Amino acid sequence: MRKIAVLLLAMAGQFTAFSQPVPSIVGRGKQIDPYHYSVVKNAMFSKAAVSSAHPLASMVGAAIMQEGGNAFDAAIATQLTLAVVYPGAGNLGGGGFLLGRKSNGELIGIDYREAAPAKASRDMYLDKNGNPQLNLSQTGHLASGIPGTVAGLFATLPYAKLPFARLVQPAIDLAEKGFVIGEREASSLNSTRESFVKYSTRTPAFVKEGKWKAGDTLIQKDLAATLRRMQKDGAPGFYEGETAKLIVEEMQRGNGIISLDDLKNYTAKLRSPLEFDYRGHRIISFAPPSSGGVIIAQLLKIMEKYPLKEYGFQTPKTVQLMIEAERRAYADRAEHLGDPDFYKVPVKTMLSDAYLAQRMSDYVPDKAGVSAAVKPGMIKESEETTHLSVVDAAGNMVAVTTTLNGGYGSRTVVGGAGFLLNNEMDDFSAKPGVPNMYGALGGEANAIVPGKRMLSSMTPTLVLKNNKPYLVIGTPGGTTIPTSVFQGIVNVIDFNMNADDAINKPKFHHQWQPDEVDVEKSFDPETKKQLQAMGYKIVERNGIGRTEAIRLLPNGKRETAADKRGDDSVAGF
Ligand code: GLY
Repeated sequence: MRKIAVLLLAMAGQFTAFSQPVPSIVGRGKQIDPYHYSVVKNAMFSKAAVSSAHPLASMVGAAIMQEGGNAFDAAIATQLTLAVVYPGAGNLGGGGFLLGRKSNGELIGIDYREAAPAKASRDMYLDKNGNPQLNLSQTGHLASGIPGTVAGLFATLPYAKLPFARLVQPAIDLAEKGFVIGEREASSLNSTRESFVKYSTRTPAFVKEGKWKAGDTLIQKDLAATLRRMQKDGAPGFYEGETAKLIVEEMQRGNGIISLDDLKNYTAKLRSPLEFDYRGHRIISFAPPSSGGVIIAQLLKIMEKYPLKEYGFQTPKTVQLMIEAERRAYADRAEHLGDPDFYKVPVKTMLSDAYLAQRMSDYVPDKAGVSAAVKPGMIKESEETTHLSVVDAAGNMVAVTTTLNGGYGSRTVVGGAGFLLNNEMDDFSAKPGVPNMYGALGGEANAIVPGKRMLSSMTPTLVLKNNKPYLVIGTPGGTTIPTSVFQGIVNVIDFNMNADDAINKPKFHHQWQPDEVDVEKSFDPETKKQLQAMGYKIVERNGIGRTEAIRLLPNGKRETAADKRGDDSVAGF
């Protein structure tokens, strides 16, 4: 029997507990030890690879492929595992987008974005004077859209090879028997404790007496029971029966509006991916209701007119050009993008050469533009989301970005069912034309309508070179998602970087409003100085995004990288 090559670094200590039994969470002789495991930031694999936000999730995905599953199986199992081991963003109660390319060239786009409940209304977050109520779309029961993730997993299943019952088993074991948490998870559970207590009507597994610390074991029995109902009954094990009843009872205890009918009627949708060329590469990304694909298409199509390689990596000239393109793309986002089933999104025009040339016609090299002169508006989203990239031995590629919106979503755990609900309703414009609680402006395109899906920034993306699989990339980060993916692609294609450098080099971000350039602390000080001299307001901030990338080399190797900004980790064989 071939030896499993799922990587476990010897670098002990980061996720280690002592004197725990070791359950067989993968089975068939391929054990993953949830009490002793480590982060692996990059590796070269020959056949199959996963990069995700958590070592256990990546290891489960790789082991599932080792067992005969393909990249779609791995994407399902990795997401289910993230819902257990990475509760801040991995989820059953949120939504996401999956973008896949089968080895025969077939493209698959699955939209399982949350939707507004039937009882939602355009002004539901306004008080009687018409002022936005800043708390209601962000925390608690009313903040949640109808969860889409489970429908998305089952919509992915026809492309997978193994039965769902097998794919969910590692997540069940991890929820039931527990796993060791690290420093980051411990501290984030501690800092969210008060909200869990305030917004959940039953005490969830995330709340314990005293403080969490690295090395503690997190056991989630209710979540395990929910996963078992899905294992037994499929999607109806979540959207109907006991789980649906628990969700609706939770809603009723907290003045939420998601109903049994909302849950029963939710469906994932197939979307045609958005495709375009960039310097001889084929870029495939997600169409609306994500803004991500349109934004990166606008940005890259603008870049194609300029010799970035000649300008140099993160020189003032390159960065300024990228900022000015971002300013214009994000102004367009606020005005024109929303759920295409409810609003006519002018994608074709927005991506036409004539339109983009006109947008850049007032660009002045060496001089900062002014957002107020481009178009009024403001966008800002929460940044807790998560991404996974997968490639299998046959060359199937899958990119999934999934989210609860804010960290731990609405902070409401469904009593008896053990999973967090999203606060995705905040991605709608609470009041078109007026800043919502994040200071965001949105137009008619993204106003609340029952059944409509809120605008997203998630940008799962695939790149082909010579019509062959080349790159799988994506990231969390709210509105910084498209600019992170944009930089990752430019770093690989224009600056010839490997996957690890492409995602881990310092990043910057401009989103039209506020009219400032966010830069990571490690951003080059000389470039920063020169941008300031051109008139840019530069704001230093903590890490931007957590990008996971796999680059396929001509020799067939899968160059796999996980972002250094978190506990993100790779696995494969
Ligand atoms: N909630 C983050 C996004 O969908 O963009």
